[in-house]
Amino acid sequence: MSIIEIKDLNKTYHVHQKKEGLWGSLTGLFRREYKEVCAVKDLNLQVEQGEFVAFLGPNGAGKTTTLKLLSGVINPTSGSVNVMGYVPWERKNEYRRRFALVMGQKNQLWWDLPARESFRLHQQIYQIDNKEFNYTLTELSDLLQIGKLLDQPVRELSLGERMKMELTAALLHSPEILFLDEPTIGLDVIAQHNIQNFLKYYQKERKITILLTSHYMKDIAALCQRVVVIAQGQLKYDGSLGEIIDQFSSTKEITLSLDTNDQPTGLEDLGEVLEVNLPRVKLRVQRNKVAACISRIMDLYTVEDITVEELPLEEVIANVFAHMSQPSDTDKPNEEIVSSR
Ligand SMILES: Nc1ncnc2c1ncn2[C@@H]1O[C@H](COP(=O)(O)OP(=O)(O)OP(=O)(O)O)[C@@H](O)[C@H]1O
Ligand SMILES: [Mg+2]
Repeated sequence: MSIIEIKDLNKTYHVHQKKEGLWGSLTGLFRREYKEVCAVKDLNLQVEQGEFVAFLGPNGAGKTTTLKLLSGVINPTSGSVNVMGYVPWERKNEYRRRFALVMGQKNQLWWDLPARESFRLHQQIYQIDNKEFNYTLTELSDLLQIGKLLDQPVRELSLGERMKMELTAALLHSPEILFLDEPTIGLDVIAQHNIQNFLKYYQKERKITILLTSHYMKDIAALCQRVVVIAQGQLKYDGSLGEIIDQFSSTKEITLSLDTNDQPTGLEDLGEVLEVNLPRVKLRVQRNKVAACISRIMDLYTVEDITVEELPLEEVIANVFAHMSQPSDTDKPNEEIVSSR
């Protein structure tokens, strides 16, 4: 049995529609009108123990809603979820001790207190004994290099430091599953990198299961082997990172360093010319024509260096989202899932 089993999961929000103007407000007092928003629609997904899964999708796709359902923060409209044998929305204390949810957009620590005091509170809530608490806190604060900041009020910390504290709080009770909702949002490149390194190390050491949502593709490339894409609440892709790149980047970029500063001729015949900054030239070429193109280049020019690169992951995923959001003729989401699993 998988560690996470999601079956035919649906979550519909009823959103109050406010009419414009004073008259609209007044009539709204007597007869409220609601719109239904299907945040999660017929979602089926299994995650195995120890996987690090990227959960991707455009804004409003239903990622946060799914993580909230998995953590038992909200109840579903229909469907079932089984996480380690628990139904999340039954909110059993035993379940609470075995997972953690971290939301980059939300603070879970006391703003005016030093993080150490919030951690003590966590210790009480999760009933962690002193020895284990001290050991884990020392380990996490060494790894995240936050030892010196533990006694400073959280409100005085930088965004990156605060996220490290949030992660520490979440991991103090050694959860087996971690739901991470945009943990690097708003962080600078170095802080993002630090968090990525930490997560990579921690997941490898502890072999925990992680579901991560992020709009930063560097996070995904650094951490995840498996990518799940949802759009409009529906599963649209489930497969490895390598395969999503193969399937959704039809081109590669070839960069040449020529042995001359003379303007080369015939570049346009080889592919789309992206940049000519002699002696450097950059071309975009269809994937299946790369080999032929390179041999042609070798015939035509004297080349000092040549590199072939995949499209940046941002562009690949943008292609995936564009492809996924095209309306389909049929309304049979399950038949449209692209999967390589
Ligand atoms: N509490 C709520 N009440 C009503 N509608 C909601 C609520 N929470 C989410 N929604 C709606 O459900 C849909 C999915 O939202 P969700 O927050 O899950 O998206 P997301 O994939 O996390 O997007 P983002 O990348 O922007 O964080 C959206 O249309 C959103 O407006
Ligand atoms: Mg979200």
